[in-house]
Amino acid sequence: MNELGAHHEEEVLGKVYDRRLLSRLLLYLRPYRASVTLAVLLLILHSIVQVVVPLFFKVAIDLYIQPRPGTPNELAWLTRLLSPDPLSGLNQLAFVFVVLLLVGFAVGYWQAYTMLMTGQRVMYDLRMQIFGHLQRLQVAFFDHNPVGRLVTRATNDVDQLNEMFTAGVVAIFGDLLVLIGIVSVLLYLDWKLALLTFASLPLIGGVSILFRNFVRDCYRRTRIAIARINAFLSEHLSGMTVVQLFNRERRAAAQFGEINDQNRLAWRDAIFAHALFYPAVEVLAVLAIAVVVAYGGSRVLAGTAQLGTLVAFLFYARRFFQPIQDLSEKYNILQSAMASAERIFKLLDTPLTIASPARPRPLPSNAGRVEFRNVWFAYNPGEWVLQDISFTLEPGEMAAIVGHTGAGKTTLINLLLRFYDVERGQILLDGVGIRELELEELRRQFGIVLQDPFLFSGTVASNIRLGSATVSDEDVTEALENVNLSGFIRTLPEGLDHAVRERGATLSVGQKQLLSFARALAHRPRLLILDEATSSVDTNTEFQIRSALERLITGRTSIVIAHRLSTVQRASKILVFHKGQLREQGTHQQLLAQRGIYYKLYQLQYRDQEVGAVADDD
Ligand SMILES: Nc1ncnc2c1ncn2[C@@H]1O[C@H](COP(=O)(O)OP(=O)(O)OP(=O)(O)O)[C@@H](O)[C@H]1O
Ligand SMILES: [Mg+2]
Repeated sequence: MNELGAHHEEEVLGKVYDRRLLSRLLLYLRPYRASVTLAVLLLILHSIVQVVVPLFFKVAIDLYIQPRPGTPNELAWLTRLLSPDPLSGLNQLAFVFVVLLLVGFAVGYWQAYTMLMTGQRVMYDLRMQIFGHLQRLQVAFFDHNPVGRLVTRATNDVDQLNEMFTAGVVAIFGDLLVLIGIVSVLLYLDWKLALLTFASLPLIGGVSILFRNFVRDCYRRTRIAIARINAFLSEHLSGMTVVQLFNRERRAAAQFGEINDQNRLAWRDAIFAHALFYPAVEVLAVLAIAVVVAYGGSRVLAGTAQLGTLVAFLFYARRFFQPIQDLSEKYNILQSAMASAERIFKLLDTPLTIASPARPRPLPSNAGRVEFRNVWFAYNPGEWVLQDISFTLEPGEMAAIVGHTGAGKTTLINLLLRFYDVERGQILLDGVGIRELELEELRRQFGIVLQDPFLFSGTVASNIRLGSATVSDEDVTEALENVNLSGFIRTLPEGLDHAVRERGATLSVGQKQLLSFARALAHRPRLLILDEATSSVDTNTEFQIRSALERLITGRTSIVIAHRLSTVQRASKILVFHKGQLREQGTHQQLLAQRGIYYKLYQLQYRDQEVGAVADDD
């Protein structure tokens, strides 16, 4: 895999604030408008509580504990609401304070819960949308996009967005509210002292920006490293047999060590920056507080400021520098979330080039007549894989397709099922162009046994049924009976409920093939397509497959990409492909008589096979 090509997408970081992206993201919040409004209101309430709490200390000190009648007191008006007696006044204050704390607790809990749950709902929706879109994307898309990258979209990228919804944006909003509140209160209480407190801000701001830029680079490096680790792991895990067979373990470990080290080094730098930044801001903040104590203290002594004001300032100062510290981290969250959003939307915006037409035509009959009319096709522009292919299959007819490896046989099937669209010409099913049919309707007509049978993790039964409600239990057993698999199934302790591992890893190739035969049969398709695997199976299984095939094709239009002589000879029409062209067609006898490509193929390949098969049978 081209590593740079595969991971460069993870490296791109866009703007932190992108109106277009943001307004599109907000659309996902629409269904949860009520929850979001509630969360924002609670957030405002929570911020107010946080700003108000330190004021209690000031009031308690300045009104009751150590009142200084001579000095100005901004909150003197509160005496009108409270008891003049110091002890009962303090009790009143304590009571309101506790109530306020409880309210703050409840509001904080409610706010966090509402916001985080909304985030999770949005993530759920987004993942569903991504998977839904991926399922409808044309096969060609997957030819160009590695699986690992697509998995990252639905997992890591969505998580990044979640961070933004929950930790990032909301927290920044809350922090800003608290900051504004604190700044106003400080200015109101004592503007000179307030300005002095803010004096260290430019310094802290500068350090924060330095830190942010440095850490952002580290994070980007870790993301690239993780993407590389994922790609390396997935490739080597699925190819473990080859790794072990060729004794590549040590080399693979060395390669992995190198990539792993990139991740460690990136983190080392990030950790260094964190370890330096937070204590540095801490020192600056404490310095600022020291200045407040020194200057504020002298003012208290001089009788121009209240002691309570100084105490409140100390509380506020601590609460003031923390959000500024967090802001740089949140800035990074926002930025990578925006980049994730960009990537997710790019995926969601990939147009569906193969989709049902707006007004699909119904199939006129149930016959199953297939016609290729001057079909041209290329996977890559200009490199024709199929050239000017024309043929017709009458209902119930069985065609065998033969040709060398790479001749375009599987491609023909891909076109018939509209995994790709033809470049020129037309494919018709029962006289209707397949592009005019509803996609689901088209594919429902076919039963397919692929060259490389694919099984899902689940059970034997679920793999045959594939979630279709129309396939009854009887259909499943009957299909297994018909492909001679029921004997094998009976030997399994759980029978039909036998667990099938991912990709059918615990079954033999022959068993997988017979299972996919059963799957095609159970769905009772009108047309049958069979891409025979070249891998050899034992004579017994070969015989089973042959007789299963016999049952499969009776009464159905079938296309069999054939490697076995028995299959080819049984066909009523043999199509001979050579380098993307349909060079000969006819019955076995006709084609032999022509002494062309088929004759040569037959000489080379099929006669040997026949001799071998006869010898095997003896
Ligand atoms: N997804 C793809 N993208 C680009 N080229 C492709 C793709 N699939 C197949 N090809 C090319 O198209 C040509 C025809 O491939 P196809 O799979 O149809 O061959 P085939 O006749 O089925 O061969 P085989 O007998 O080995 O299965 C080959 O040259 C192959 O390299
Ligand atoms: Mg093929």
